[in-house]
Amino acid sequence: MRDGYCDNDASAALLPWYDAHARDLPWRIGPDALAQGLRPDPYKVWLSEIMLQQTTVAAVRDYFRDFTMRWPHVAALAAADDAEVMGAWAGLGYYARARNLLKCARVVAHDHGGRFPQSEAELLALPGIGPYTAAAIAAIAFDRPAAVMDGNVERVLARLFAVQTPLPAAKTELKALVERLTPGTRPGCYAQAVMDLGATICTPRAPACGICPLRAMCRASAMGIAAELPRKSPKKQVPTRHGIAYLARRADGAMLLETRPETGLLGGMLGWPGSDWAAAPPAEVPPIAANWHDPGLEVRHTFTHFHLRLSLRLGQVAQDATPARGAFHLRDSFRPANLPTVMRKAWDLARDAWPKD
Ligand code: ADE
Repeated sequence: MRDGYCDNDASAALLPWYDAHARDLPWRIGPDALAQGLRPDPYKVWLSEIMLQQTTVAAVRDYFRDFTMRWPHVAALAAADDAEVMGAWAGLGYYARARNLLKCARVVAHDHGGRFPQSEAELLALPGIGPYTAAAIAAIAFDRPAAVMDGNVERVLARLFAVQTPLPAAKTELKALVERLTPGTRPGCYAQAVMDLGATICTPRAPACGICPLRAMCRASAMGIAAELPRKSPKKQVPTRHGIAYLARRADGAMLLETRPETGLLGGMLGWPGSDWAAAPPAEVPPIAANWHDPGLEVRHTFTHFHLRLSLRLGQVAQDATPARGAFHLRDSFRPANLPTVMRKAWDLARDAWPKD
């Protein structure tokens, strides 16, 4: 912190700002409601934090509403059908989160009497809960002084202290700063205040330093380098992989889909049967006998570590044909919205390109 400021000045400046400007989020008990005695629902805090990993608030809102309407408490989610939950998650990405969500709900329901534990250590022991999420739930749901560290917090602190070390090497330094700054009073509000500041003012590209409650103590702002921080080590080149997906339609309109293996990319999600995804264009591996047709269509989709080019094949199959893999989903029960995004893109491209014969 600059001369004349002590660490807790950040929290002293942030809390009044949060009281006035906290974002209205469906999972949040804002400062006014807290003052009136309302308390956050740990189930909703947990669900929102899992959904928000790697995903924006805008993308999460509708999913959060849908999930909490269908499964209003952890026991309801624990009792849910796996395929229904995976279908409801479709489109949010990072599907291991959905599988772990179910596992975690079941552990909380069966081993913890339906109540989330309050300490970071116990939260960390639950499926799908890592250090960030454990700290966020402890702070937000239970108002514990846990050091919450995500991308937003890293950016705010890198600027506040003008940390010039590039990420990811800077993480240790930033973690020490988070721990030093986390206040004993209203730690839950403080954690959310830093998140809100990072999302609305201390934004990645064009921070609005002119209206920032931390401006007077921000080193990067004083040096005129806020927008340049945090520095980042150059990213590795992202490779491209190739695959083929087979969209088979039966005479009665049923579609051939398979549930992908539990482990691996899109694990547990529905998808079109197809080849492995590899560096070289793959050989044909049709999952069923059909008059396969290459419409020249390709889905392009980017995953965390590679770009995918997925070439489509369309086939009309006989009513009595038996697939080597997957199962037919009747026309009425086939919901494209239940597919992960890459598979839904394939459907969107293919639906109007079907061979007539
Ligand atoms: N991003 C991740 N968790 C959040 C939360 N609880 N509030 C606002 N933004 C967030």
